Amino acid sequence: METIKVKASRPYSVTVGSEQLKTIGERARSLFPKAVRVMLVSDDTVFPLYGETVSRSLIAEGFETEPFVFPHGEKSKNSKTYLDLISAIARAGLSRSDFCVALGGGVVGDLTGFAAATYMRGIGFIQVPTTLLAMVDASVGGKTAVDLPEGKNLLGAFWQPSEVICDIDTLKTLPDPVYAAGCAEIVKYGCMMDKELFETLEQQDLKSVEEKVISRSVSDKRDIVEQDERETGSTRILLNFGHTVGHAVEKVSNYQISHGSAVSIGMCVMVRAQSECGMIDKRTVKRIESLLASFALPTETGFSARDLSDAILSDKKKTGKTVNFVALREIGEAYVMPIPIGEIESFIEKGLKTCKSN
Ligand SMILES: NC(=O)c1ccc[n+]([C@@H]2O[C@H](COP(=O)([O-])OP(=O)(O)OC[C@H]3O[C@@H](n4cnc5c(N)ncnc54)[C@H](O)[C@@H]3O)[C@@H](O)[C@H]2O)c1
Ligand SMILES: [Zn+2]
Repeated sequence: METIKVKASRPYSVTVGSEQLKTIGERARSLFPKAVRVMLVSDDTVFPLYGETVSRSLIAEGFETEPFVFPHGEKSKNSKTYLDLISAIARAGLSRSDFCVALGGGVVGDLTGFAAATYMRGIGFIQVPTTLLAMVDASVGGKTAVDLPEGKNLLGAFWQPSEVICDIDTLKTLPDPVYAAGCAEIVKYGCMMDKELFETLEQQDLKSVEEKVISRSVSDKRDIVEQDERETGSTRILLNFGHTVGHAVEKVSNYQISHGSAVSIGMCVMVRAQSECGMIDKRTVKRIESLLASFALPTETGFSARDLSDAILSDKKKTGKTVNFVALREIGEAYVMPIPIGEIESFIEKGLKTCKSN
């Protein structure tokens, strides 16, 4: 078991290990000594798998535990589910000293976090991420949100969890593509800030070093968000490596391509374009492509540079005459590269070409 401390405006710890679900009640009791009621939030895939273990653990500590279970998937991350959840919390009579538990992937975490941030102007919540992506990314950093018809994550707040408990045993039931989506974000940490992590992934079977790799990813993200909790500086943006093009791929595919796959393509397009411009060597590009492919992640797209650049320009990250892309100096080092709006399409065009090995 490994524990990572996050020094946010409200400090918390992230635990990564096996057999963690049974310990949630006990840990909740020490975090919330005066709490009486708990809203256990989950989706209809995760709750049947792990809900009972978590409920039992909470009930054993004397918490009155109320479940709130909603249909799985991004479609549920909306203002209706959010309001239904808030009403359920109110009906269950939670007070400010009570708390929520988010048991599930990033959808459950983002939704529960936002409900906890806003119910009675903020109550505590414990994140229990059950997808690889939620463990290494969504549950650390304090971003909570739901989607609006106008766009993703538009209704949200920064609200730090009271604790994050990652039980790696839950990953055993994860479908392969969902697991792979988390791998894309781990490769991202390796590329942008952690060469050693990248090399571990190249050399070892992820399943055999899962706990170590998840902990390492969490502490990488922690290092970034601690410097820039509210994304006001220039540090947190580095986490967007692969994401500017990735979001465009998601959008152009009408969200048929998953976030993880899109980010994988986005990272490859970025470094291939850099390589075509002589900014990074071809061998580095090959290493990144091969690592992603080893997780069965896509490295190419058939979408046109025009469609992708149009999607980027309609995105919220546009500021003035340039768009900030995150580029790599080498594996383990990222920097912000502003590209003038008029040059985006041709830059992406370069990244769509398959990198010829030399
Ligand atoms: N807050 C942040 O900083 C942040 C960062 C990245 C992503 N996100 C958000 O996270 C969401 C994506 O998260 P996700 O990929 O975890 O999606 P998800 O929560 O939809 O989970 C993916 C699927 O896996 C299922 N599942 C979850 N755990 C399982 C398990 N242990 N066994 C079997 N099935 C399981 C879920 O029911 C769901 O169908 C997006 O909404 C995204 O915006 C937030
Ligand atoms: Zn991402």
